[in-house]
Amino acid sequence: MSNIIADVVVDVQHGDCGKGKITHHLARTGNYTHVVRYNGGHNAGHTIYHEGKKFITHLIPCGVFFGIESIIGPGCVVNPQRLLEEMKELREAGIDIDNLLSIAKNAHVITDWHLAEDNKDKAIGTTKRGNGPAYRDKYGRKGVRVEQVPELQEYLIDVYEEFHRNSEHDTVEILFEGAQGFGLDVDWGDYPYVTSSHCTVGGAVLNGIPAHSIRNVYGAAKIYETYVGAKQFGMDEKDEEERIRQIGEEFGATTGRPRKIDWMDIDSIERAVDINGLTTLVFNKVDVLEQVGRFILYHGDNKFEFDSISDMQYYIEENIKRDNLEVIFSGHKDRI
Ligand code: IMP
Ligand code: MG
Repeated sequence: MSNIIADVVVDVQHGDCGKGKITHHLARTGNYTHVVRYNGGHNAGHTIYHEGKKFITHLIPCGVFFGIESIIGPGCVVNPQRLLEEMKELREAGIDIDNLLSIAKNAHVITDWHLAEDNKDKAIGTTKRGNGPAYRDKYGRKGVRVEQVPELQEYLIDVYEEFHRNSEHDTVEILFEGAQGFGLDVDWGDYPYVTSSHCTVGGAVLNGIPAHSIRNVYGAAKIYETYVGAKQFGMDEKDEEERIRQIGEEFGATTGRPRKIDWMDIDSIERAVDINGLTTLVFNKVDVLEQVGRFILYHGDNKFEFDSISDMQYYIEENIKRDNLEVIFSGHKDRI
């Protein structure tokens, strides 16, 4: 039996907070034997700056950038054609994915019918990638698993064998990368304006590891909030919203849709910190707010404005303080 250690990267807002940057940093500096994507499908878009080049991945874990075995976990839904395209794009960009990428054979398929169904959505403002219908069929017990797809056969694995009975590594050290975020989680998000999968640390555990193997949980947040979808969302300060969007490049990585922007909400971050049991919380894009020059957040029923970014950071640190929680502030393109 192998010993298993797992770190998990989650997003504590509505996605797009820089999980890719944290995962990329951890994969580069850590000792992981595996990187696993644990929920969602190609509705996600992870923006990664690697060796000076910008990559947007949708389903393939960032372990492939570092020669680490990378797995699309059983909690994911896979559009086979889009996955094959993404593999081709990475190969063409010189990333050596072969022999590194595998797919859990019990992951589910997004079929053409799922895509067509999702394209009818108006109420939620989905990414129209077939995610919701694929999960609906999975839980309705009428889904299709990737093991039924001929083109994917050579990539399939059993994650039990891979994690628990690994003949190569006595200790399997896994980095789990989540997709979407706490505010989009099917149980904890703003239902029904959510995605159809589990975006919390619990979602990672569903991918074949024992709960006690979790070591560190890293949370990605932004110093302001963004959301993409149909619900009403946004700040009263329309000039600031537009400046944040332009300076922060707040357009969807998957769909190109302009992201709706509001000030940060401390209460919802606290919920995400506690429910995920975060050990590190990174606030990204602090420099974007500095350039815009307004420092506002919500806490309880109140809206607070600060004179400077450092005053705002101090307030956040004081209110999010927990035993064993490290809080980091980071700029848009800074390394952590
Ligand atoms: P779905 O996941 O495509 O079903 O979309 C459900 C909701 O989640 C919509 O509001 C989407 O805009 C949002 N969503 C899904 N994936 C992402 C993501 O990667 N980033 C931000 N929002 C997302
Ligand atoms: Mg994203």
